[in-house]
Amino acid sequence: MNILLTGGAGDLGRVVTPLLEQQGHTVLRLDLRQPTDGHGTFIQGSILDFEALKAHMVGVDAVVHIAAWHGIHEFRKEKDVFDFWSLNVTGTFHVFEAAVQSGVRQMVYISSSSVEEKETVYGQTKILGEAIAQGYVDRHLLNVITLRPRAFIPYWNRVTYNNFVEWALWFWPGAVHIDDVAQSVVRSLNVLAQGTLDQHLVLTVDGAYEYTDADLAAWDADGAGSTFRKYYAPYESLAVQHGLNPALRPEKRDISATRQWLGYAPQYSLLNLLQDLQQYGLEGPPPPV
Ligand SMILES: NC(=O)c1ccc[n+]([C@@H]2O[C@H](COP(=O)([O-])OP(=O)(O)OC[C@H]3O[C@@H](n4cnc5c(N)ncnc54)[C@H](O)[C@@H]3O)[C@@H](O)[C@H]2O)c1
Repeated sequence: MNILLTGGAGDLGRVVTPLLEQQGHTVLRLDLRQPTDGHGTFIQGSILDFEALKAHMVGVDAVVHIAAWHGIHEFRKEKDVFDFWSLNVTGTFHVFEAAVQSGVRQMVYISSSSVEEKETVYGQTKILGEAIAQGYVDRHLLNVITLRPRAFIPYWNRVTYNNFVEWALWFWPGAVHIDDVAQSVVRSLNVLAQGTLDQHLVLTVDGAYEYTDADLAAWDADGAGSTFRKYYAPYESLAVQHGLNPALRPEKRDISATRQWLGYAPQYSLLNLLQDLQQYGLEGPPPPV
C-alpha cells in the first residue's frame, strides 16, 4: 500500500515508517521539515496548503494524520490559540477533505487522551478534530480509526527531555511508550486494509503494566511501597536513587476495546523502564536509527 503520514518527520513518523516498510508498504512522509533518518520518501509540504496536499494524496491508499501542535506546545506557550486552531482544526479539515477528493478511503487520525482536558486549547482542538473525523465517516463513508494515545514524547527527544531519568520521572505515573503507539498505528492500518470495518473506532492507547486492577484498587495495603515490591523489589534502591517514588500509584487506562479491535498488546512497562535505567543510566537506550 501507499501510505502517507502527515507530520511524518516527527517522532511518531520516525518510529512508524520503518515498521511499515518492513511490511512492504511505501511510506510518504509529508512535513515542513526533512526527517533526520533515511526511511520512506520525504515530501516537503504543509497540510495548510490544500491544493498541494490534494495532489500528494493521489494514488495513496491510506493516510495517517499525525501533524498537530500538542500539549507541550501549549504548556510551554510556544504556540497560541490561532496556531492551534490553524494546524489542528483547519489542518485536520484539509487532510480529511483532500483525502476524500483524491480518492483515499482509509484514515488513521491521531487524536489524544487530552480530549478529556476540555479546559485546554489542545484538548478542545482534538475534540473538534474527532468531530471532523466523524463527519467524514457519516457523510463520505470514509473508513477511519481514531487513536487516543496518552502522552508519548520519547526519551530520545532532547528538546523535551535532557536525559533518560527526566523521561522516566514523567513516565512513572502511567504513560505509553512511543513504540507501543506505533504498534497501534500499524495495527489500525492492517484492520482498515481488511475492508470489513463498518464504524468509526475511537480507541485509547495506553502502555503495559505489571500492576493488576486488583493491585491498584488495594494500593499499598501492606504499607508504603508494598505493591511496588511485589514486582520490582530488586530495583527499589535504583528507583529511589533516581527520584522514582515506589509508593506512587500509577493511573492506568482502559484499553480493552483497543485490545479487542486491533489485537493491541502494549509491551513497554515499568519493569522495562527499570531494566533500561539499570543498563543504560542517564543516557537511556540508543534511539531508533
Ligand atoms: N507526543 C505526545 O505525547 C502525544 C500524545 C498524544 C497524542 N499526540 C498526537 O500525536 C501527534 C504528534 O506526534 P509526534 O510526537 O510525532 O509529534 P512531533 O511534534 O514530533 O511531530 C509533528 C510533526 O508535524 C510537523 N508539522 C507541523 N506543522 C505542519 C504542517 N503545517 N504540515 C505538515 N507537517 C507539519 C512538524 O514539523 C513535526 O515534524 C499529534 O497529533 C499529537 O496531538 C501526541
